[in-house]
Amino acid sequence: MRYGHFDDERHEYVIERPDTPLPWINYLGCEDYFGLISNTAGGYSFYKDARLRRLTRYRYNNVPADTGGRYIYLRDDEAASHPTDPPFWSPTWQPTRIPLDEYECRHGLGYTIIRGKLAGIASEICYFVPLGESLEIWQLTLHNDRRQTANLSVYSAVEFCLWDAWDDATNLQRNLSIGEVEVDERIIYHKTEYRERRNHFAYFACSETATGFDTQREAFLGPYRGWEAPKAVESGQMSNSISVGWQPVGALQVKLRLGPGERKTISFVLGYHENPPNEKFDPPGSQTLNKRTVRPIIDRYRRDGEIEAAFQKLRAYWSGLLDTLQVRTPDPHVDRMVNVWNTYQVMATFNLSRSASYFESGIGRGIGFRDSNQDLLGFVHLVPERARARILDLAASQLPSGAAYHQYQPLTKRGNHDVGSGFNDDPLWLVLSVAAYVKETGDWGILDEPVAYDNTPGTEESLYGHLQRAIRFTLDRRGPHRLPLIGRADWNDCLNLNCFSDMPGQSFQTTTNKDGLTAESVFIAGLFLIAAAEMAEMARKLGRDGDAQACVRAAEEMETAVGEAGWDGAWFRRAYDDFGRPIGSKECDEGQIFIEPQGVCVMAGLGLKDGRALQALDSVAERLLTPHGILLHQPAYQSYQLHLGEISSYPPGFKENASVFCHNNPWVMIAEARVGRGDRAYDYYRRINPSVREEISDLHRCEPYVYAQMIAGRDAPAHGEAKNSWLTGTAAWCYVAITQWILGLRPTFDGLRVEPVLPSTWSGFDAVREFRGVRYDIHVERRGPGNTVGLEVDGKPVAGTVVPLPEAGARQVRVIARLG
Ligand code: BGC
Ligand code: NOJ
Repeated sequence: MRYGHFDDERHEYVIERPDTPLPWINYLGCEDYFGLISNTAGGYSFYKDARLRRLTRYRYNNVPADTGGRYIYLRDDEAASHPTDPPFWSPTWQPTRIPLDEYECRHGLGYTIIRGKLAGIASEICYFVPLGESLEIWQLTLHNDRRQTANLSVYSAVEFCLWDAWDDATNLQRNLSIGEVEVDERIIYHKTEYRERRNHFAYFACSETATGFDTQREAFLGPYRGWEAPKAVESGQMSNSISVGWQPVGALQVKLRLGPGERKTISFVLGYHENPPNEKFDPPGSQTLNKRTVRPIIDRYRRDGEIEAAFQKLRAYWSGLLDTLQVRTPDPHVDRMVNVWNTYQVMATFNLSRSASYFESGIGRGIGFRDSNQDLLGFVHLVPERARARILDLAASQLPSGAAYHQYQPLTKRGNHDVGSGFNDDPLWLVLSVAAYVKETGDWGILDEPVAYDNTPGTEESLYGHLQRAIRFTLDRRGPHRLPLIGRADWNDCLNLNCFSDMPGQSFQTTTNKDGLTAESVFIAGLFLIAAAEMAEMARKLGRDGDAQACVRAAEEMETAVGEAGWDGAWFRRAYDDFGRPIGSKECDEGQIFIEPQGVCVMAGLGLKDGRALQALDSVAERLLTPHGILLHQPAYQSYQLHLGEISSYPPGFKENASVFCHNNPWVMIAEARVGRGDRAYDYYRRINPSVREEISDLHRCEPYVYAQMIAGRDAPAHGEAKNSWLTGTAAWCYVAITQWILGLRPTFDGLRVEPVLPSTWSGFDAVREFRGVRYDIHVERRGPGNTVGLEVDGKPVAGTVVPLPEAGARQVRVIARLG
């Protein structure tokens, strides 16, 4: 069953009913100002950092679901003449939940449009963040479809957050006494803590002069009421309340008279603004907010045409980004994900890492080191300058040992001490993101950039040096089988082999009560091999042959270690525990086979010659494959295992305990492509593709336009049900798997490789790829059943599969690839 449909032409997902199984959300903003918005206008906004600069309040896990947002109410001020119609309602359905005659939500790229119709009044609200601004627009268009004139009141309402979302939710003894606002010319300014150390504030304005306002939540809602029936809306009476303490809100009322057939547009602007520290007050020495700096911005969006122009600019920006790669294949699900939605999700994960979604509260995790490095793999081609800046920020959170903080706060960029470091895979991911960036851009200069360790001035070393330390970090930490020590965890945050936690509430990740010298990770070994190959190639290109050779030797040693201790007979083992016993082995009762080492080891090229790669992948197909994707491991852990940690804390089939943890499904797709099995790679791709799964939305439950972190495994009661949509490494990796390995358009240091491994049913595909400033028009056609590529570039045959970099000044290259 579906709840909507894709509008491929407009790059929108159209939700046809408000009561989706879960709130289906979108993101507004793609620079500094962000908002989450659901299909019924729920959500919140923040500036740069969902924890430290939260503009509006949102209560996670609330009942009813998804309460709190960017609300608009319509009130019929002559309700008595329409006794059968409700006196007021929400044109976005929530929060009043009064049934609408018509409803439609269009989630687009950086904007959401919600339409509703009731009692002959049609409305459309377009929410978006203009490029380059720290504000959001809600543009409301009303149309009176009645035969009579309608006298309406429009109310808009937000609840302000007192900036630090964690403190806001917990420190009530203080916070209920600090709220402050100003209202000037009917613009509401939220300025809590502005009197002391903050120099920023929020504002909420309307294109019309508001006829009334409220800034005190209880005055607007009335005691013991929720957002579904504010007293002010019910009575038509705003109190013009000024909040001092308690809960500041922004609520504006506008009265409108609409003749029959008449249409009217009004807009609301919610924004964030900073004043220079020495110009905070006006007049200086007073406590009155200096509004002179912000008024031009507010006034700009009151001018005719300004909003429309900003909206068109946003649309154009996105179509420009999407143009970086467009494909036309025989499968519409591939096309719409690659051309639109997967790209869009990659931007969201780049921007937000794992900080703020409807499953990530914005106060927990900031920018994850391993997460963001992986997100970059799918992002580098979109906005390379931003990728570059992110890489340097990530590297600056590396420690002198080569280790890395597991995460940092986006606002401060400082490593998070609560989580700290010690996830032994972390540093290696930096090598992968840097290599991807250089392959995409040819910007070798990034490797010379001086970057500090732990953000400490004076410790700068070249980025190249940082990468060397990442490699060294792994080599210096090897265990009894010469495999890398796992530390707190590797990619699988929940495989906590040095933790042995028996106290409720203890952190599985940061509690460490073993010496850490025994538990080893085959996964890190595989990842190391990938990183070492990239490092060796980069070193070679830079003329650092000694480094290159050292890397190759280290890789050989690691390969031997995996060959000896990492192979279980029919698949790669996962790890060794603190007792030196294998995990992910036929010797185990549960957790006999894990997906991660099969994917990563074959991606690294292990077992390609001796048949182990095929054997490992066949074992995956045999033991881990389900109709809903590939399981993380089997059999699931049925009970809590002290020596394994969080992985065994979940009920079987959920999360890291044997769900379809989507993130590493694409590793197997890539591995299948590496061994030349296009049918399998493509089959696996389709199993978790959200657009393919749209048909089963009632089971899948999450948004059909973005990947979710997990799909419940076959041990779970609702096998196939997804959770944790949006912020997952699945986005970048699926993008890499389909575009670079199945379609085979893969940047290399020397040019764009065209090496598709297609399903046998495909006759070919076409693509346009912008690469290093040149447009590649690519036509792939199947001539025979194999994967051998015959390349023709601008009409001339070319040996190999890499299109040589065109001469300077060339703008366009025409590539034909014949497969057989
Ligand atoms: C989650 C993981 C996450 C870890 C660290 C676990 O509860 O299942 O996905 O990486 O916490 O925050
Ligand atoms: C989600 C985390 O964000 C990611 O870093 C981790 O690799 C996976 N969970 C698996 O545990």
